[in-house]
Amino acid sequence: MSAGRKIRLVVLISGRGSNLQALLDRATSGELPVEVAAVISNRPGVHGLERARRAGVPALELDHQDFVDRPAFEAALIELIDRHQPDLVALAGFMRVLTAGFTTHYRGRLLNIHPSLLPKFRGLHTHERAIAAGETEHGASIHFVTAELDGGPVIVRARVPVLPGDDPDTLAARVLEQEHHLYPLAIRWFAEGRLRLDGGQVWFDGEPLREPLWLDSEAHHIANAIDSDPSGRAWDNPLARVSR
Ligand code: GAR
Repeated sequence: MSAGRKIRLVVLISGRGSNLQALLDRATSGELPVEVAAVISNRPGVHGLERARRAGVPALELDHQDFVDRPAFEAALIELIDRHQPDLVALAGFMRVLTAGFTTHYRGRLLNIHPSLLPKFRGLHTHERAIAAGETEHGASIHFVTAELDGGPVIVRARVPVLPGDDPDTLAARVLEQEHHLYPLAIRWFAEGRLRLDGGQVWFDGEPLREPLWLDSEAHHIANAIDSDPSGRAWDNPLARVSR
């Protein structure tokens, strides 16, 4: 993408939509060079749709239960998404497994946020499983979506400690706070043309990414300072926000 241009983003949700809200807020403030072209939920009436409406974004429902099978649902979903001509599609708490037909159609322009330090804990109940496994660290990951469930190339991760006495809810809340920084960051990189998928390889700033990046806590403080920096200059330095 050329500098200064906004990309068109379609966000797929299934529920609460707090990650969607993080994206909407940063798009509205101008911090994220995206136009949220549509929000689509496979579950009718969820709170995320209300968040989209409040932001003046088309909020669309496509109930998977109205379709005979997964391919039929996905064909309708592709049609609905493509009507909005997205440069990027972001899964934000979208809780449907996607077939290879869908993921191939959007290859290289489909991102997901997953609440674990991938490749650990693919699938559901990640917080509960991290505690049960005795992990001392947990977190969230952004990855390009491929046909393998939660298995596509990982771009950037955020970690949090697992604290004594944590239950799945307290741990989920700590992870979610990081998610709200992580997803806007990755989408910003994509919008700025700094991030792409070529074959199975992620490229970042013109170089193959050998290991996923980290959003670390030190960078996080800097990020907060940057958020209140009207010049926005510090945003341009990826090392201010991530570590390799
Ligand atoms: C988030 O924690 C997201 O990482 C997770 O669902 C939650 C949605 O919250 N996604 C997955 O588990 C995908 N497998 P939100 O609706 O408030 O953004």
